[in-house]
Amino acid sequence: MDLAIERVLFTEEQIQARIREVADEISARYAGHDLKLIGVLKGSIFFLTALARHITVPVKIDLLAISSFGKGAPGVVRIAKDLDEPIEGEDVLLVEDIVDTGLTSRYLLQTLAARNPRSLGLCTMLDRTIRRLIQVRVDFRCFEIPDRFLVGFGLDYKQLYRNLGYIAVLKP
Ligand code: IMP
Ligand code: MG
Repeated sequence: MDLAIERVLFTEEQIQARIREVADEISARYAGHDLKLIGVLKGSIFFLTALARHITVPVKIDLLAISSFGKGAPGVVRIAKDLDEPIEGEDVLLVEDIVDTGLTSRYLLQTLAARNPRSLGLCTMLDRTIRRLIQVRVDFRCFEIPDRFLVGFGLDYKQLYRNLGYIAVLKP
């Protein structure tokens, strides 16, 4: 294991098992409908593909990329790459790697809501409610997490560690 890793918080087996459970919840909730999953580059693509594989309703996928304005302006993000297709009239689920302060998700949900989807939900792999600055409704989540910086399964530190199969606490 990498020297910068303090400990593994969720193993690959735990993550995959929990993703199956959440995919079952999503399949039940959207039964009879097509579902559009919207991933946020780059962090959420690992979770999105793992999740999509176990969803049993018809699934479409689209991706957007955001860039933040840096440390001086937390939560101030803009869309750096927009969706390829409109979402009007569709059942849309925003898929996030992590909801921390909630600022990013709120911005994205507001932006997507303005495009008149039939429904709009939020699914996150990790939820750190202890750091929340604003209220966001999380419809589906895999794990609640403590206030420690995590890497793996899409989460990065300086763009590294996204490809780890597990989720780990990085050494301070
Ligand atoms: P927000 O604070 O909810 O707006 O989340 C902002 C972004 O910070 C997330 O989308 C992640 O990219 C990043 N982030 C927050 N916590 C962590 C972490 O523990 N590891 C890696 N990235 C994180
Ligand atoms: Mg992110």
